Amino acid sequence: MFEETNIIAGLEIGTSKICVVVGEQKADGSLNIIGVGQALTQGVRKGEIINPQLVEEDVRIAVAEAEQMANVEIRSVFVAVTGSHIKGFNHRGFHRVLSADYEITQEDVEDVINNAKAINLPMDHTLILDVRQHFMVDGEGGIADPVGMHGARLEVDLHVIHGKTNRLQNVTRLVRGISLQVNDVVFSGLASSLALLTPEQKDLGVLVIDLGAGTTEYAVFSEGILRHSGVLTVGGDHATNDLAYGLKISLHRAEKLKLQHGSALIDETAGEQMVGVTDERGMEIKQVKAVQVQTIVSLRVEEVLKIVAEELAQSGLTHLLRAGVLLCGGGARMANITTLAEKIFQMKCEVGHANGVSGLSQTLDEPEFATAIGLVKYGAIQQRQSTANLLWWLRLWDWFKNLLGLGG
Ligand SMILES: Nc1ncnc2c1ncn2[C@@H]1O[C@H](COP(=O)(O)OP(=O)(O)O)[C@@H](O)[C@H]1O
Ligand SMILES: [Mg+2]
Repeated sequence: MFEETNIIAGLEIGTSKICVVVGEQKADGSLNIIGVGQALTQGVRKGEIINPQLVEEDVRIAVAEAEQMANVEIRSVFVAVTGSHIKGFNHRGFHRVLSADYEITQEDVEDVINNAKAINLPMDHTLILDVRQHFMVDGEGGIADPVGMHGARLEVDLHVIHGKTNRLQNVTRLVRGISLQVNDVVFSGLASSLALLTPEQKDLGVLVIDLGAGTTEYAVFSEGILRHSGVLTVGGDHATNDLAYGLKISLHRAEKLKLQHGSALIDETAGEQMVGVTDERGMEIKQVKAVQVQTIVSLRVEEVLKIVAEELAQSGLTHLLRAGVLLCGGGARMANITTLAEKIFQMKCEVGHANGVSGLSQTLDEPEFATAIGLVKYGAIQQRQSTANLLWWLRLWDWFKNLLGLGG
C-alpha cells in the first residue's frame, strides 16, 4: 500500500505535446524520476482543449508510455492548467488593530488573512491557488510575522490564481474519463518554476518564463514567495505562423524551418546566405534568405518577451529579481534566446534546468519537461505535508491516550 502512495505522476496537456512524468518519493524524502511518456498533441489550442476525443487518445498514449517505462500503474495525476482564462492578481486585506496599546496579536493576524481571503471572484471562476505575502504594519512592508509588533493598521496581500470553472472542468473531466484520479490542478507556470528553482533563487528574487507553443506562462518569486504570475496566449506558434505566412509555406514546413534556422537574433554578417525549406522527407523544396527567417522569428520572440517585461514592470517587482530570469518550455531551446532576453530584461537570463530530482536522463533535462517535472515535485511536497500532518495527528492521539490513561 505504501508503495502506491509513493508514486507521483504529473500530466501536462500542452499545445504542442502531452507529457507525463512519473516520480518515486523515497522514505528519506528524495525524489527519483522513473518514467516519462509523450505524445504530440492534436486538439489543444492556446493551452485549452478544443477536441476532447483527440486529446483523450493522446493522453492515453503518453500515460501508457510512462507506465511502461516506470513499470507502475498510474492511478492519479497532478494536472497542469493554462490558458487565457487563468488570471493571477494580488488581493489586499486590511485590519484595524483594536487593542489599547496597538500590540498585534495572533487574532489580528488571522483577521487580516481572512479579510484578504474574502475575494469576489467572477461567478464562473474557481480559485486555483492563493499564496500569502508578507505583512505590512502601518504601511511598512516585508514583515514575515507581525505578532508582538505595534501598529494601528495591519495589511496583507494574497497572490490569487483563478480560472474559468468550465475550462478547468474540461481538463479534469477528460482525465477522469480515462479512469485517472485528479490529485490537484496546478497552474503550469508555477509547476515549471518548482522544477527549476532552488530555495536560494526564490529568496533572491527570480522570474521564470515558460515559452510554450500556444501560451507563455510566467511567475515571479522573491523572499521565497510566489509574488506574481500570468499567462500570455502567444508562444512559439506565433513565429511559426508568421514564417508560414511570410514565406508562403505550410505550417509544418515553417515549424521545421524555425527549429533548424530560427534565431532570436539577426546575424548581420549572414548577408546573402540562403537556407533550405524542406518537405516531410527532408527534401529541399525552396531556398530563402537566412536573415529573412531570423528577422521574422526574432521579431515574434521579442514581442512575446516584451509583453512579459511590460507586465513585470506594471507589477513593480522588476527591481526584486536579484537571481535574474530563467527560461524554460520548448521555446527556450531557440538559438540566442538568452542574449535577446538579457537585452530586454537588462539582467542575467539563463535557460533553467530541473533540480532536486534524481534519475533525470539527459533527454528529460530539457526545458520543455519543466512543467511535468514540476508537477511531480509539487505532488512530493503535498505528500510530505500530508505525512507530516498524519504524524502530527498520531502524536496528538498518543498524547490524548496517555492523558486518558489509555496508553499501553
Ligand atoms: N530548437 C528549438 N528552437 C526554437 N523553438 C523550439 C525549439 N524546440 C522547440 N521549440 C518550440 O517550443 C514550442 C513547444 O514548447 P513546449 O514547451 O513543448 O510547448 P507546450 O507545453 O505549449 O506544448 C513550439 O513552439 C516549438 O516550436
Ligand atoms: Mg507547456
